[in-house]
Amino acid sequence: MTDTLADSRTSPRVFTEGVPLVVEDVPRRSAAERAAVLADPGFGRHFTDSMVVARYRAGEGWVDARLTGYGPLQLDPSTAGLHYAQSIFEGLKAYAQPDGSVATFRPESNAARFARSAARLAMPAVPHDAFLTAVDALVDADREWVPTGPDQTLYLRPYMMAVDPFLGVRPASEYLFLVIASPAGAYFPRGVQPVSVYLSEDYIRAAPGGTGDVKCAGNYAASLLAQEQAIAAGCDQVVWLDAVEKRWVEEMGGMNLFFVLGSGADAELVTPELTGTLLPGITRESLITVARELGHPVTERKFSVDEWRAGVADGTVTETFACGTAAVITPVGEVKGRTGDFTVGNGEPGPLTMELRARLLDVQHGRVPDTHGWLHRVAPVAS
Ligand code: PLP
Ligand code: COI
Repeated sequence: MTDTLADSRTSPRVFTEGVPLVVEDVPRRSAAERAAVLADPGFGRHFTDSMVVARYRAGEGWVDARLTGYGPLQLDPSTAGLHYAQSIFEGLKAYAQPDGSVATFRPESNAARFARSAARLAMPAVPHDAFLTAVDALVDADREWVPTGPDQTLYLRPYMMAVDPFLGVRPASEYLFLVIASPAGAYFPRGVQPVSVYLSEDYIRAAPGGTGDVKCAGNYAASLLAQEQAIAAGCDQVVWLDAVEKRWVEEMGGMNLFFVLGSGADAELVTPELTGTLLPGITRESLITVARELGHPVTERKFSVDEWRAGVADGTVTETFACGTAAVITPVGEVKGRTGDFTVGNGEPGPLTMELRARLLDVQHGRVPDTHGWLHRVAPVAS
């Protein structure tokens, strides 16, 4: 476990060179109010007492970084980010550890992806250490909001948007970077029950040269109609195909996909390769490592709908699951599309899916040794 805690708690936090992270005295809800929320947090509905806000101005750089009370932003109606979606975000989680401390999972990877997203949207970089400092400060300040129930976490949402009051289309000169936190239970209300998916043939998520490999707001806005189509077809989620041939499976709404070939000790995994049109998920990358450690080869390559369907029919493809920070690992059961429907395995969660899920959650919740230094301790052992 990496630990920058000692330094950060004994000296004032620095957002970036010359810019302190000012920690304000924040109004706090009572223990009873907190307990009422944490009893059943759901996903993305409740927020903690604090947030981090920092401002960037061209020519000045980052200014005025503070940890302040969670509350509404005042924005000019002409705010550029609201019109042209020059806006990016990240998603990571803080986990209560068995010793009473709190740790985030691979936050450096989120910082790196945020930097790539910023570059793609012509936005300024949030320095790597500033991103980590902001996340650490928020979790530490609101550590009492980290839930301790089974599979509960504190979901963290760093984001940045253009705030110039200007309607011309150009990269803005002023930005806000924020981090907010939301106590979270299961992303899907049915928990780990398999989801049904709809193969999107009318709409595409990302084309070569587009923004599919970064986390920008517009990607999600453009996905909603296909998601509605999936729901109208009786499915939980949309599965995106490549934009050019509409043949290769790319990813799910907010998750990457894995296919299990074979079964038992010989089972192998395939996950769509990173062609530039799908998001390089941190859960995806972690699972590639974990699966290989468990003795299961993993191949990153193109995987077609035809191979999926034929593999399910002849028993080669035994399991399919989706993975991401919010939803961890979710089995895929029924697959629907214009070219015919099929059900993976017997429609129940597969054994390797569940083994990988348990293993990843054990690492994240500190129940097994963190052999990769993936956990980053942010709040100390409770006194
Ligand atoms: N794909 C998309 C489109 C996503 O929004 C996400 C969620 O962040 C993922 C994949 C999974 O990425 P990660 O595992 O880093 O959360
Ligand atoms: C995540 O898994 O963190 C995501 O961002 C997916 C979704 C909630 C947008």
